Amino acid sequence: MEKLLYITANPKGLEKSKGLQIGEAFLKAFHLEHPGIEIKSLDLFNLDFAQMDADLVFARGKLAGYGYTLAQLSEIEREKILKMHALADEFITYDYYVFVSPMWNLNSPAVLKAFLDNLFIAGKTFAHTPNGPKGLLANKKALHIQTRGGQYTGTPMQELESGDRYLKIALRFLGIEVMDTIVAEGFDLYPQRVPEIVAAAKEKAIIAAKDFAKKTLAV
Ligand SMILES: Cc1cc2nc3c(=O)[nH]c(=O)nc-3n(C[C@H](O)[C@H](O)[C@H](O)COP(=O)(O)O)c2cc1C
Repeated sequence: MEKLLYITANPKGLEKSKGLQIGEAFLKAFHLEHPGIEIKSLDLFNLDFAQMDADLVFARGKLAGYGYTLAQLSEIEREKILKMHALADEFITYDYYVFVSPMWNLNSPAVLKAFLDNLFIAGKTFAHTPNGPKGLLANKKALHIQTRGGQYTGTPMQELESGDRYLKIALRFLGIEVMDTIVAEGFDLYPQRVPEIVAAAKEKAIIAAKDFAKKTLAV
């Protein structure tokens, strides 16, 4: 059975977050269109996962750079690296990924970067080859739904946007096919237009939900 992982990085909750409401519209439409595809949600603000602290950095370096075995790591290093690998192992089992995040200070909430840090594992999600790094997560698709207070599309602000850009770079690095992002922006700039902006993004999300699992996957 195919599976979709729905990953959210917004602490405001469904009632307050426009992005989560747009994401919910995507999920409902996706489930109607593809009832056979299992959906699991991950709320990154309420998920206990390994952080890239000293133990994890040293464990990573010892395993990858110095040929240590797991048994040769300290107990805490082993515990943290196993936690990281378990998260990546689960992530790999999915066919589709939907990320929902707001733009915060030109990027995504830090929790999203911290989550992605758990997925970069040489030999598991990407490989070093003579031609450079190669993503190993083939035949998988991702979509990002991003909300913004300002207006970036079609303005000189566009080049400052780093959250959606980084997420797409990271996912493509791992070999995942990335669809066009659904952007809902201008919420703080045009507060009177909030319902209209949300409604337009929901419509796009519903269309994307129909296409997402149907289009041929890149080989
Ligand atoms: C800490 C913080 C930083 C923000 N930084 C930006 C920013 O750099 N650019 C921007 O357009 N909006 C920024 N905003 C506004 C949010 O992007 C906007 O309110 C949010 O995306 C609305 O979606 P939501 O209701 O799903 O949270 C920021 C909001 C917060 C809380």
